[in-house]
Amino acid sequence: MEIIIADTYEGMSELAATMIERQLLRKPNSVLGLATGSTPIGTYQALVRKYKEEGLDFSKIVTFNLDEYLDLSPSHDQSYHYFMDQHLFNKINVEPRNIHVPYGHAEDVEQFCSWYEEEIRQAGGVDIQLLGIGGDGHIAFNEPGSSLGSRTRLKTLTKQTIDDNARFFTNPEDVPRFAITMGVGTILEAREIIMVANGKKKAEIVAEAIEGPITAQVSASALQMHPEVTVILDAEAGSRLKRADYYKWIFEEKKRLIPRLIGKVT
Ligand code: F6R
Repeated sequence: MEIIIADTYEGMSELAATMIERQLLRKPNSVLGLATGSTPIGTYQALVRKYKEEGLDFSKIVTFNLDEYLDLSPSHDQSYHYFMDQHLFNKINVEPRNIHVPYGHAEDVEQFCSWYEEEIRQAGGVDIQLLGIGGDGHIAFNEPGSSLGSRTRLKTLTKQTIDDNARFFTNPEDVPRFAITMGVGTILEAREIIMVANGKKKAEIVAEAIEGPITAQVSASALQMHPEVTVILDAEAGSRLKRADYYKWIFEEKKRLIPRLIGKVT
């Protein structure tokens, strides 16, 4: 696991976008796993800028989103379909037929989840997965207690997640209680994973996930078992890491050794 502590949210976002850009330059038909939430908005802005100003090509990519609220239609302004259209899909040249976001109105949720897993397999698996982390340590909507081998399924959200998400809804009663989410096992099959986190509110849980024990109580801790994970933090989110100095030192050494890998991002 590589931990990079950027100074700012913008630095974190730029670095995550640069890693995705590198993946697309290596393999233009990459399968991208995508997250919603406030954290990756800057990453998507940086990708849109790379598309508009540098001609980064998204025409061959295939995307799979991590999750979607149950019973929110794709046109609902708090649905993850809507979020992705607003922040990324409508602003780049991705083919609409290559976009996959779990469907919150699926009639047979179980069947839908098996279909989603099969679609990921048919696409050749996820090449690079972007993740955020919830205040309770969830990745996607794998709340505490989710099996580390779990697959795409319906999940009941915790009170903490519902409260965290209330800021996006006018009426607290409208915050969905259920979501369709990729499982921890599904996520761990991605070839490469980038997790981004920013702000003081995430500092404690980020430290638990990275430096604490692997436990189903903090689903992000399962990333410790994956061979290709990069965690990109801003200074606040990295402020509770015991080995922060070591991670920074590794990053500086790497920059010195392989400047081309890091590019202009510091
Ligand atoms: C969203 C997702 C969630 C978020 C997490 C953090 O697709 O999978 O796990 O990444 O809830 O949300 P923010 O970024 O809003 O703090």
